[in-house]
Amino acid sequence: MKKQTILVTGGAGFVGSVCVELLVAQGYQVIVLDNLQTGNRRAVHPKARLVRGSIGNARLLQRVLLAMLAHANTGHPGARELVTAFSSTT
Ligand SMILES: NC(=O)c1ccc[n+]([C@@H]2O[C@H](COP(=O)([O-])OP(=O)(O)OC[C@H]3O[C@@H](n4cnc5c(N)ncnc54)[C@H](O)[C@@H]3O)[C@@H](O)[C@H]2O)c1
Repeated sequence: MKKQTILVTGGAGFVGSVCVELLVAQGYQVIVLDNLQTGNRRAVHPKARLVRGSIGNARLLQRVLLAMLAHANTGHPGARELVTAFSSTT
């Protein structure tokens, strides 16, 4: 079965990095969205993917969520096109 992907905002910080560690240990794929304002990229679990940016950046957040949707629905014919279409307009 495909592993679920979870988005952890602030995952390079103190609390977030512990959450990421626990999620990875449970077999989840983790994407960290963090602007590194107080966090540190070295705190991000090596198995997690770091996207550097702010949760307040609606366009970035939309892109990340659409990419997660596409990844979760690889069998969904429209998902990849949706991401491509969105990316090509930004
Ligand atoms: N060793 C320790 O015991 C220790 C160490 C650090 C912190 N603390 C405690 O932990 C608490 C703080 O931990 P925390 O995890 O809440 O804070 P944190 O600052 O460690 O983590 C917050 C994370 O959110 C990120 N962030 C902030 N604004 C963002 C935005 N707009 N978009 C995306 N990412 C953003 C930061 O870069 C950071 O990685 C405090 O109580 C502190 O005293 C304890």
